[in-house]
Amino acid sequence: MRPIYLALCAAIAVTPVAAQQKAATADGAQVFTMVCAMCHSVQPPAKAAPPMSHVTAYYLRKHVDTTAAAAAIVDYLKKPEAARSLMPPMAIERFGLMPAQSHLSDAQLDAVARYVLTLADTAHGHGRMRH
Ligand code: HEC
Repeated sequence: MRPIYLALCAAIAVTPVAAQQKAATADGAQVFTMVCAMCHSVQPPAKAAPPMSHVTAYYLRKHVDTTAAAAAIVDYLKKPEAARSLMPPMAIERFGLMPAQSHLSDAQLDAVARYVLTLADTAHGHGRMRH
């Protein structure tokens, strides 16, 4: 009896979309998938960075509205610095400082900042979140 190669057929990979630069309109979800998701999961467990639902919950708590929170995220993405971090110090101790995302355009940075804020898990933690 020869094994049936059904599993192999089913596993033929779908080639990931390699669309690098999508010119005019920036799509935050797409930027997140192509760039940020390399390091950030959305929900725990963490990959190489704190999960995005935790990260953005801190930004929403510390800023008056989503516009201010998005602007602060864009600033951090352009120039990450421990002094500007809104995360508990253990985030940088555990994962290291995030590399600057200045290869993205301002439109892409703004779109992705607004998108990741929609992922925030503000229902849990009550200001004392643990990772
Ligand atoms: C190469 C890995 C990597 C990539 C890619 C990455 N990040 Fe990060 N990010 C980190 C690490 C590590 C931290 C935690 C340390 C820190 O805060 O600098 C972090 C922290 C953050 C923070 C919290 C900053 C703070 O206040 O400390 C935000 C917001 C963030 N990332 C958003 C993003 C977004 C949006 C993208 C995609 C455009 C992205 N990251 C891409 C590794 C990454």
